[in-house]
Amino acid sequence: MNLFRTVLICEHKIKIMSENKVELINRIFSPSSPIKEPDFFSGRLDQISKIKNAISEVGQHVILYGKRGSGKTSLSNILSFTFPDYYVIKVNCSRTDNFYSIWDKVLRKVSFFIEKKEIGYNKNTKEETITLSLPEKEYIDADDLTEILQSISADFLIIFDEFDSITDNTTKTMMADTIKALSDNVENVTLLITGIGENIKQLLGYHPSIERCIKQIKLDAFSKEELSKIIDLRLELTGLQMDDNLKNLTIEYSSEYAHYVHLISKYAFLNAVNNKREVIDISDFNYSIEKCIEDTDYSLKHAYEIAVKSSGKKHKFTNVMYACATGDFIEKNNFNIKEVVSQYNRLNKSSLTEESVRYNLGMLCRPERGEILEKLHKTKPPIYTFKNPLMKAYIKLQLHVKNK
Ligand SMILES: Nc1ncnc2c1ncn2[C@@H]1O[C@H](COP(=O)(O)OP(=O)(O)OP(=O)(O)O)[C@@H](O)[C@H]1O
Ligand SMILES: [Mg+2]
Repeated sequence: MNLFRTVLICEHKIKIMSENKVELINRIFSPSSPIKEPDFFSGRLDQISKIKNAISEVGQHVILYGKRGSGKTSLSNILSFTFPDYYVIKVNCSRTDNFYSIWDKVLRKVSFFIEKKEIGYNKNTKEETITLSLPEKEYIDADDLTEILQSISADFLIIFDEFDSITDNTTKTMMADTIKALSDNVENVTLLITGIGENIKQLLGYHPSIERCIKQIKLDAFSKEELSKIIDLRLELTGLQMDDNLKNLTIEYSSEYAHYVHLISKYAFLNAVNNKREVIDISDFNYSIEKCIEDTDYSLKHAYEIAVKSSGKKHKFTNVMYACATGDFIEKNNFNIKEVVSQYNRLNKSSLTEESVRYNLGMLCRPERGEILEKLHKTKPPIYTFKNPLMKAYIKLQLHVKNK
């Protein structure tokens, strides 16, 4: 990082340190929106370095993929700061977009100056504004775009965020054709496509011809260290303190989701400040967990309510769910009946057999019990996972309140 940028960041930090603390906390935590400022962005160094390598290689384009909430938009938001020498354009894709509309959005954002020598005796230079637009015809294709993008000489990084929301298969195919055409003919333009998915096929369809010109970069779940950095940075910015125990609980409850780290920490930080304390303690944490439960989406809350509703004195659904959410198998994001039973018995100091929870696991996959689980494979014994991965975190919050 150069000296100028370091000075700017320090000035920025001093400015935000002197803001009203409540306002500051509301600004630095963003549980419901992507990160927009690089100063509030943590981790993802490996992926940034992979993107850097890919865009410096002629003819390479990038697919950045991962699960919902893994931080795709946040990472693409900070790329204009990471690559100051590139002209970065980012557009959001939506369900109703097609090939024409996404490229129209891109080209409308292009506007830059070039210096031109005046003709004649003086030979002064003057600035000329360059804008681009699509040809006035009903359909455009990869060749049209190649021609337009060949006319610019600056280095461009064009980001298509939320590309998974595009439903039109023709648009996906035309995008794949464009990647191939740009890779063969235009050196200074890199496309970066982000979206939810497990691989390139899920985002663009099957196009073997583009596999060589696409780097697939996966955004894995946040590591404990990355989540810890999100909290540490905000402790530093607010001057508050939190002991490691509460920090670890926050990370544990967030179940690899930065969203929950922001949400739990935000309420705990606010409660400490409102009570004029500099050290965040367990009362702030407890308050925060209740607020987080309140804030959780209706669909998640509703599914949970249906899953735990009583069906007689001895019903085991709640405890089976707790076992599914808290076992040490949970990092692999799926589990089988044997693992669930052993966690169930550990939590409840019981000695149930697999047979006695088989029914509960099966029912938790059905609408009558909120469909909170699903069977991953048709294997025997079946492998289960949470249908909505955020449910894991929500169950842990509920368990915390119950055990308080
Ligand atoms: N590197 C990061 N540092 C700190 N917080 C982050 C980081 N990346 C993401 N977050 C936080 O995580 C949450 C999800 O981030 P984001 O919206 O970028 O994910 P996404 O993968 O684009 O989600 P979706 O799949 O819904 O489009 C937000 O609360 C955001 O503020
Ligand atoms: Mg996103």
